[in-house]
Amino acid sequence: MPRVTSVHRCQQCGFASPKPGTCPDCKRASGELVPLVEERAGPVPSGRRAAVTAGTRPLPLKDVVMERGDRVLTGIAELDRVLGGGVVRGSLVLIGGDPGVGKSTLVLQAARALARVAPPVLYVSAEESAAQVKMRADRLGIGGDGLLLWAESDLSAVQAELGGVKPRTLIVDSIQTVFLPELESAPGSVAQVRECGARLMTLAKGRGIATFLVGHVTKEGALAGPRVLEHLVDTVLYFEGEHHHAYRVLRAVKNRFGSTNEIGVFEMATGGLVEVPNPSGFFLAERPADAPGSVIVAALEGTRPMLLELQALVARASFGTPRRTVLGADYNRVCLLLAVLEKRAGLPIGSQDVFVNVAGGGRVVEPAADLGIVIAAASSYLERPVAGDVLVLGEVGLTGEVRAVSGVEPRLRAAAQLGFRSAIVPRGNTEGALPLPVKGVGSVSDALGALLG
Ligand code: TYD
Ligand code: MG
Repeated sequence: MPRVTSVHRCQQCGFASPKPGTCPDCKRASGELVPLVEERAGPVPSGRRAAVTAGTRPLPLKDVVMERGDRVLTGIAELDRVLGGGVVRGSLVLIGGDPGVGKSTLVLQAARALARVAPPVLYVSAEESAAQVKMRADRLGIGGDGLLLWAESDLSAVQAELGGVKPRTLIVDSIQTVFLPELESAPGSVAQVRECGARLMTLAKGRGIATFLVGHVTKEGALAGPRVLEHLVDTVLYFEGEHHHAYRVLRAVKNRFGSTNEIGVFEMATGGLVEVPNPSGFFLAERPADAPGSVIVAALEGTRPMLLELQALVARASFGTPRRTVLGADYNRVCLLLAVLEKRAGLPIGSQDVFVNVAGGGRVVEPAADLGIVIAAASSYLERPVAGDVLVLGEVGLTGEVRAVSGVEPRLRAAAQLGFRSAIVPRGNTEGALPLPVKGVGSVSDALGALLG
């Protein structure tokens, strides 16, 4: 029987078939017809056998030794927290994000920090020339002690050099541009990304090198290349932010060594990324005093409360269907809340244009911000400002009821620290000792009476 020498693989999910055609998995999942791409099957790459398991034997649980002291703090507190308390020796961390968001800047700053505490660090740039990276390093004021820079995209060449360099940290920028020469497919293809990822995993575990991979995301927001990469690595971090806003969030979506609730907040400045230990202060810095349509809410990012300014502008629609424009919040949710405001609180805003925005490029996805959105719209419509030292919290239901939310205590504490004097909260959240004086409300009308009456 002739040996199968090629497979046809989906470049989105990694599905493999001996025959050409389209991917049945992607068709089932999204209805999309994704053509399979032929890959010539070479020798099975050595990276397939993960070094975590290679050459080991079953052990009684009690005999398994936990290594201590295998974490290194970079000193960039926002990064250390998202990693679960520093960089774990031999771990593989994938940092995904849109082009231009600042991934290379972040890993270069991490490289500098790690070069101080755990040298040497090897930065492999497969995307930019050494001169380009040097230019960025100069801009960031990075001298480079303990930091080795190498513009190389052949991963086998990098592997060959590791024995001599003995890096404690390896940075690969990016996983979509490195390649293994023994595979025929192009860099960035599923086969290359998967095998390069597996090879780097073997090296990281086998040699105890903490490895950071930079990965690009597609316009749908998923990491380009096979999803298997996300399964393979220990930690997946997403670096997010809007281009025209300076604020960046590093978010853990998977972490074998820590919680996925944590976020790190940075500001992209002219001299690189600056940590923002107090994101609320950052978002509220330019808050107008006594302006109708502005309300402060407290979102909870994982365990971390973040105060945000919600702004609404309600204006008479000049012609045709009234417009609803929403930035930083869910469009459908805002439409629903506006309908509740009209029907349950009697505010005739159905014929008005409504614009809702989270100031500073922030984002709220939680129902806990519902009441804030409703109040901001009402405040703008009525041209009555909400007092600047009041926090507004609550989920709003379709009957106009205000429902209890979780994490009230940390949210209020964050507000108290920033000088807020009181809060409007759901009636169900008024129990216990709270860091701020609160007024409980049971409905949207109650809240309107308390804040704008
Ligand atoms: P970069 O790290 O190259 O992004 P990525 O690797 O994710 O593609 O940074 C991209 C942007 O950041 C670039 O448009 C310029 C800006 N930037 C600053 O504003 N300040 C800085 O100090 C640096 C290095 C970059
Ligand atoms: Mg880059």
